[in-house]
Amino acid sequence: EQINKGNYEHYMQKEIHEQPESLKTTMRGRLIRGDSSKSKTVLLGGLKDHLKTIRRSRRIVFIGCGTSYNAALAARPILEELSGMPVTMEIASDLLDRQGPIYREDTSVFVSQSGETADTLHALEYALENGALCVGITNTVGSAIARNTHCGVHINAGCEIGVASTKAYTSQIVVMAMLALAIGGDTISSESRREAIIDSLFDLPNKVREVLKLDQEMKDIAQLLIAEQSLLVFGRGYNYATALEGALKVKEVALMHSEGILAGEMKHGPLALVDETLPIVVIATRDACFSKQQSVIQQLHARKGRLIVMCSKGDAASVCVGGSCRVIEVPQVEDCLQPVINIVPLQLLAYHLTVLRGYNVDQPRNLAKSVTTQ
Ligand code: G6P
Repeated sequence: EQINKGNYEHYMQKEIHEQPESLKTTMRGRLIRGDSSKSKTVLLGGLKDHLKTIRRSRRIVFIGCGTSYNAALAARPILEELSGMPVTMEIASDLLDRQGPIYREDTSVFVSQSGETADTLHALEYALENGALCVGITNTVGSAIARNTHCGVHINAGCEIGVASTKAYTSQIVVMAMLALAIGGDTISSESRREAIIDSLFDLPNKVREVLKLDQEMKDIAQLLIAEQSLLVFGRGYNYATALEGALKVKEVALMHSEGILAGEMKHGPLALVDETLPIVVIATRDACFSKQQSVIQQLHARKGRLIVMCSKGDAASVCVGGSCRVIEVPQVEDCLQPVINIVPLQLLAYHLTVLRGYNVDQPRNLAKSVTTQ
């Protein structure tokens, strides 16, 4: 496997631009188009003997840290929709701090790029002791989490060197969307939805290639933000995770305070921060929450917020009513996969911001790629 930087200056930059290929590798052999008589399906070899047990379980619990947790959060809505099961989220350390309830009837899904994160590994031991079915989603064949879970899926994103996770994040979301399709099975009522998701998965690498063309635009925006102290990112629904993950990228590598905010909570605190100086990214791509996000934008405009709005291609005029804002237009895909597209400009923003601010992009201060101590 090639782990040099190729034509890129940094690993993070290389890994961001590699995403059309890494996503293809993640999906290779796992999406079945089917002929006209058979509907399209998903095949996850590592899970096939366990799908029945998963469907019979009482709930699905996602467990992870950092970016891996955010990826699970991005996939949660589609898993809830297609499985009809309760899906809960646990940050590994918090589950351990609380000794939170995990039951024999649970399916616990451990998400970890490295497969070696100490907190996630300890949470796995805890779930095993409690008798839950344990599923691993990792990027590292032979890792502790891959070895110690009952079954699992490798994301096959290829080696990730940059401490800030980028291509693993998008591959994790795709694997969990495929997990949702696999658990959902062949229910007639959701057949057209499943087919639309599978079609969109096939086209996803092309759409990621398209969104990567925003590189220069994101560099220009980074230039505007170079001396800022703070950046807020507002998202909701499928893109709440995008807000958290975008803010995490900026924080991790650009060493700038950044906070991902659930837009539905805006009135319960964050609104107090809004003035004409603080930059705010609002994610307002097309999905069931679009009109609510339009109203958030209007309320931020009313407080003279300094807005950078991410919207679907062609929507600039409908998101920027009643104020001035900088717009990032991204290609539209099936709503549950939109987080894969939307994170890319924010990865680019964090990357350029870091380089412009003169910080180490691949090995940020005080952070490690794999945190193997608690
Ligand atoms: C560290 C890394 C992050 C990563 C997190 C979880 O904090 O710096 O990039 O998201 O660990 O790592 P994992 O390997 O379990 O996904």
